[in-house]
Amino acid sequence: MRVLLVGNSGTVGSAVESLLLQRGHQVTGVSRTSSPALDTSDLRSVSSFFAERSSAENRYDAVVVAAGGTPFKALAELSAEDFGQALNAKALGQIAVAQAATPLLSDGGSITLISGVLSEIPVPTGTAASVANAAVEGFVRNAAGALPRGLRINAVSPTVLQESWEAYAPAFPGAVPVPASAVANAFIRSIEGIETGQVIKVW
Ligand SMILES: NC(=O)c1ccc[n+]([C@@H]2O[C@H](COP(=O)([O-])OP(=O)(O)OC[C@H]3O[C@@H](n4cnc5c(N)ncnc54)[C@H](OP(=O)(O)O)[C@@H]3O)[C@@H](O)[C@H]2O)c1
Repeated sequence: MRVLLVGNSGTVGSAVESLLLQRGHQVTGVSRTSSPALDTSDLRSVSSFFAERSSAENRYDAVVVAAGGTPFKALAELSAEDFGQALNAKALGQIAVAQAATPLLSDGGSITLISGVLSEIPVPTGTAASVANAAVEGFVRNAAGALPRGLRINAVSPTVLQESWEAYAPAFPGAVPVPASAVANAFIRSIEGIETGQVIKVW
């Protein structure tokens, strides 16, 4: 398959890219620092990236996002701007990618977004992340029934990765981290499988 992977240089994205390549897929990785660049937090960047690829030779079989971060702060310290930033960086950017990529996907192709365990399991500093992850999952559940041409859409929801545990452990009391390879396999399940409208949990 021809796969567009947003965030291929990250902790999650690099594991997804390695597994896709191992499985014989052709991967185009993009991020804010790639050339050409794609910044999911800038809706103009998203629309111009896909508009420039609107010709028939730029078809993808799968579009995958493994990017987007959210502020981690105690609820009392979270401002309206923090919630806006979380929603923009994690949810609206991924939704914009899904919408702009839809015309470029081949029939029966797929979109895979990323959410996270905090949509369902709260942690003390994770309120903004919980809101943004839940928005991603709500979009996926609805869009699955509305996409044309047999296109599918899922979200992968990881808990903290072992590779990120050192940075995130204080924010996730009692969590059991998972290897990036397990998260990468959840993306493969979405890309190569037949599921749609699912939140594929890795926790
Ligand atoms: N790591 C975890 O334990 C974990 C657990 C659950 C969920 N998640 C979720 O997984 C996603 C990726 O996390 P990660 O830990 O892999 O992050 P990461 O290591 O910081 O990597 C982020 C990747 O996305 C790219 N990126 C960042 N902001 C971007 C933007 N606005 N537009 C386009 N690309 C962007 C980065 O490249 P550039 O810097 O070049 O743009 C990089 O390739 C996030 O949504 C995170 O919430 C992570």
